[in-house]
Amino acid sequence: MPAPPSPLADDRLTDALAARLRTHDWATLDLPPDTALLVAAREEAITHAASGRLQPAATGRAGDRRHAGLRGDATLWLDDPACGAAARALLAGLDQLRVELNRRLLLGLDEVEAHFAHYPVGASYARHRDRFRSDDARVLSLVVYLNPDWPGDAGGALRLHLPEGPQDIAPRQGTLAVFLSDGIEHEVRPATRPRFSVAAWFRQRPRAG
Ligand code: OGA
Ligand code: MN
Repeated sequence: MPAPPSPLADDRLTDALAARLRTHDWATLDLPPDTALLVAAREEAITHAASGRLQPAATGRAGDRRHAGLRGDATLWLDDPACGAAARALLAGLDQLRVELNRRLLLGLDEVEAHFAHYPVGASYARHRDRFRSDDARVLSLVVYLNPDWPGDAGGALRLHLPEGPQDIAPRQGTLAVFLSDGIEHEVRPATRPRFSVAAWFRQRPRAG
């Protein structure tokens, strides 16, 4: 049975996102913070974190130990068998969004990967790019934030390093940040409270050579 329509693949949202990405390397979008999918995803993320199912990111699936010391988050991939209904619905919604973005932007996005992330108090992720030198598969990065009532002085911003200067995006529930994986260096600033999110990457088929 096909997944029900997702708030992430809503026509108005995808139109706005595609229009923005035609002229910019990054975008933010807002869903209502009480969107059922986000509320359920937050609950699931907190449950996984409390049960110790999130793993320090540097020892994750990619085995990417280059990131050890650079990042303090713990993650769980949404396609992990330990994940529940909210993770599956999110992944399905992100895949619908992938199809809708391809339709509008002809990006050749072939698949999506995504993980829950939990940054404990004080944790950060140093300035980096999401596309690795050895692997050009990641085209578009997307982060969905899962933190209701995030005070302005709590820190935890996603800081995009743009040619015109740094752009901070608060990790407030309902906010989506989207940017080109190759083009934009970014970092996660430390926060005074636990920070939950889902980070996703829309991938193209890796080019040979
Ligand atoms: C990442 C990342 C940003 C954020 O996971 O690669 O940059 O705001 N996350 O969580
Ligand atoms: Mn990143």
